[in-house]
Amino acid sequence: MNVETLDELIAKNKVYCSMGANASYIPALASVNPNQLGISLYHIESKELISAGDALVKFAIESMSKVPALLLAIEDNGLTTVLEHINTEATGFAFNSPLNMEINHDKHPLNPFVNIGAIETTSLIKGNSPDTRFSRLLTFVKEICHDESISLNEEIYESESKTGDINRSLAYYLKGNHMLSGDVDSILEVYFKQCSLNVTTVNIAMMASVLGNKGVKPWDNKRLISEESATLVKSVMTTAGLYDESGEFSAHVGIPGKSGVGGGLMGVAPNKYGIGVFSPPLDKSGNSLAGMKLLKDVVEELSLNIF
Ligand code: DON
Repeated sequence: MNVETLDELIAKNKVYCSMGANASYIPALASVNPNQLGISLYHIESKELISAGDALVKFAIESMSKVPALLLAIEDNGLTTVLEHINTEATGFAFNSPLNMEINHDKHPLNPFVNIGAIETTSLIKGNSPDTRFSRLLTFVKEICHDESISLNEEIYESESKTGDINRSLAYYLKGNHMLSGDVDSILEVYFKQCSLNVTTVNIAMMASVLGNKGVKPWDNKRLISEESATLVKSVMTTAGLYDESGEFSAHVGIPGKSGVGGGLMGVAPNKYGIGVFSPPLDKSGNSLAGMKLLKDVVEELSLNIF
């Protein structure tokens, strides 16, 4: 794919920016310019990066941070232990719904990408203070995204924390049911901070390329995570990466994906491309509307559908 084709696909899909709405429950996200659409693709074999549109705009990683948090929790505890705390089931409910817990009367959250499972995942990251745990996660994010400059967006963090009562209720639900060890406020501090990291589509494409390359960083051929961990995460992305819209996404886009309410979308084309997309207006499930349309076109153009 060349940049001209990518530019054409951006122009074609920009119209969808006006058909969604920025996340409004976090004020700092509501005020982001909605008329933005950008994409980066990193080719695993050739190591070529191509970008178009608003590819270098910084935006909040939000729920895409649940991917590196899960990878670090697995590195810290082993896959078996993590899966003793969190299931890997699909959800038919919204990302922040308590039903992701109660519906089957299970002892564990449905999966690591719905908020209740993500809070549980973050609690498994090792460190003796919230600062240490967040700093370990930030170091890991910088490494998997191949960018030392990634940092916390303080304004988003303030906003997340101030408006985070549903997440507080989910964390207390876990704690009250003896499923969360540690202090709720400390765990949520790390969770709110991980969601508030500033990234670009290039960062997301690089992270996706590590998953697509079975855990080995394509840019230096060094292994960062185990193949087993990369495989598990891609499979949960396929069934739950876009919450109650994961089925539609699999059927119509056809690669493992993970969204964030900042408008980010990560796509993994195994052994081929890591893809990062950004467009702030969301659909009703909290996924980037123009971002999904653009990703679908790119996947079709490059014949990347894994099914
Ligand atoms: O926990 C929250 O509500 C946000 N910080 C993250 C949610 C999110 O990104 C859902 N994704 N589409």
